[in-house]
Amino acid sequence: PMAKELFGLSELEEKIRDTFHISQVIIVPGDSDTSPYTKKEMGRAGASALRRYVSQETVIAVTGGSTMAEVATHLSPTTALKGSWFVPARGGLGESVEFQANTIASTMAKKTGGQYRLLHVPDHLGEEAYQSLIQEPNIRELIEVIRSARIVLHGIGEANVMAKRRRADEATFSALAREGALAEAFGYYFDRDGVVVHKMPTVGLRLEDIQQTETVIAVAGGKSKGESIASVLRFGHEDVLVTDEAAAREMLNYT
Ligand code: G3H
Repeated sequence: PMAKELFGLSELEEKIRDTFHISQVIIVPGDSDTSPYTKKEMGRAGASALRRYVSQETVIAVTGGSTMAEVATHLSPTTALKGSWFVPARGGLGESVEFQANTIASTMAKKTGGQYRLLHVPDHLGEEAYQSLIQEPNIRELIEVIRSARIVLHGIGEANVMAKRRRADEATFSALAREGALAEAFGYYFDRDGVVVHKMPTVGLRLEDIQQTETVIAVAGGKSKGESIASVLRFGHEDVLVTDEAAAREMLNYT
């Protein structure tokens, strides 16, 4: 609390909370674009936010990304987490293995002693193969579990950065530009008003599931993500934001 007062972060948290109408904002000092230490601290804060909201036998749907990987690093066993289930929020998004939601879900389960289920949906599946895959009883059942998640824990990325990282084709890049996509979260792309303008063709959480989720927790920071975070918050279904000082200050330029 001392350091927060010193940096004026409490006021900043309050300002972000009121401006974007979310219930809780946690800001760590610094800029994770340039400081690995700040990113770690954001991971630590994300882990404690999750601990606060989880209760016995909670299904927690998680996304991929380097920020979520930091959150996973800082998790430890609690009674509630041990009885919980970690599942990936959505199937294959074209990420490298270390950043995949499946990987993050299994790491989180290992760190906490919780359970996990993996969703094996290959990237770039043809329509026919896709349709028969989602009819598989195991996959269908898992998709039901994912859609019933009480907590969604996710990262936020810049649209271009994410499309590039996932090796999107030219057509996708021009569609995203045309649609004004600024931000990406859980495989959906958002414009500056928080409207979903594009979605990755995969299974798992749908927008209507996210609208029903009890607690949606976003963990994202770095000055470069300020505008993207603001866009996703305008979508209007986030409950908790864990971010850093640089992103928070930048967000206020997009109000
Ligand atoms: O959906 C957004 C990405 O998962 C964010 O990835 O945490 O590596 O920036 P990142």
